Amino acid sequence: MTDPGPLGPFPEAPGYANAVAADAADALASYRSRFAISDPGVIYLDGNSLGRLPNATARHLEDVVAREWGENLIASWGDRWWTLGRTVGDLIAPLIGAEPGSVVVADSTSVGLFKLAWAALRTLPRRPLIITDDLNFPTDLYVLEAAGEAAAGRDVIVVPSVDGVSAPEDAIIGALDERTALVSLSHVAFKSGYLYDMDRITHAAHEVGALVLWDLSHSAGVVPVDLAGVDLAVGCTYKYLNGGPGSPAFVYVNPGLEIENPLAGWWGHANPFGFETAFASADSIARFQTGTMPILSLTAIEPAIRLTAEAGIQAIRMKSVQLTTYLMELATEILGPLGFALASPTDSDRRGSHVAIRHADAWRITQAMIHEGRIVPDFREPDNIRLGVAPLYTRFVDIHTAVNRIAYLMTGGIVDGYSNGRSAVT
Ligand SMILES: Cc1ncc(COP(=O)(O)O)c(C=O)c1O
Repeated sequence: MTDPGPLGPFPEAPGYANAVAADAADALASYRSRFAISDPGVIYLDGNSLGRLPNATARHLEDVVAREWGENLIASWGDRWWTLGRTVGDLIAPLIGAEPGSVVVADSTSVGLFKLAWAALRTLPRRPLIITDDLNFPTDLYVLEAAGEAAAGRDVIVVPSVDGVSAPEDAIIGALDERTALVSLSHVAFKSGYLYDMDRITHAAHEVGALVLWDLSHSAGVVPVDLAGVDLAVGCTYKYLNGGPGSPAFVYVNPGLEIENPLAGWWGHANPFGFETAFASADSIARFQTGTMPILSLTAIEPAIRLTAEAGIQAIRMKSVQLTTYLMELATEILGPLGFALASPTDSDRRGSHVAIRHADAWRITQAMIHEGRIVPDFREPDNIRLGVAPLYTRFVDIHTAVNRIAYLMTGGIVDGYSNGRSAVT
């Protein structure tokens, strides 16, 4: 291993020139300069958890705060804010293959999921089963359970994955029958990055008359999605869509589906400023709003989505596949002999934009990476280190440097200085 000196890049390590050449040939390379990068020495591989701040967002927020809030005050509700959830929904729609008017931004992913799941269950009152799997994000499992109780008498079947990496797609399809009301899965699994065959599962669910609800949190903005035949979807905006911490989630409802928001509120009313005592649902996607929007967080998403749209979702996906493939190759070659194993699909058609690597000492390796390696990954219990690549700002040379730095931390005894005791936010 080449001595990296102060943990810089590793120009003498094998493959460095290839990484530099891949960056030079990268059609998306210039997008990196559109993000706030305060310390270029830090390799940020956590865009799958919280995307970086686009420079345009900082400027936009300053303007919204000073002008729309500071000067225009309440007039801004009428000027722009009241319809902003739908405006931003329409910006997201082309990125997820949805029609204009079918997406609205409101609430968190968990709340959106609850609304859609409960709404779906109410349309199929005699079907007792909800099908999901154990690769799904825990909030999804909790929400499905709660929606099942709210809709009365529904059970959640959690189909197990055989290896914790690949989804049990055949077993999910095998579990479907005329008792199934809803199939709800994450399009990309939060831990392993497994990318589901959305068409296949949606089709199988429809064959038995069930509805399908996809969580696009780990695919929106990085994997092209086509919701044309899908019933329902939700997704967060703070990962690859770079909407900022706590930015609200989007919900999609197929325009052909007659379905009502079970959490009725005045923002979903047909005539909200009539202040009528009885609820009457708006006939647009606005009906899936409930209460007042977090306007500052909502408006922060706008420039970020425009950036993604400008780069183009197909180009983003192409680079994402190249980056994750490169990362898996280097991890196998350099980290394999150091006790790491890959915990993500090797087939790029079945992989989203992060790669999980496993190690018995994953916790303390993660701590050493953050505090001494100047690499930001995240840790997922019990032994996964997730390395997310965000094609708008992750470079090939970042991957080369990160893998070589991890090897240096392991072989240089640096990891040994950390313990495996956990802290609260991982
Ligand atoms: C797949 C998935 N769904 C849902 C959530 C939770 O979303 P929220 O906290 O916005 O409710 C996450 C969070 O990371 C996630 O990865």
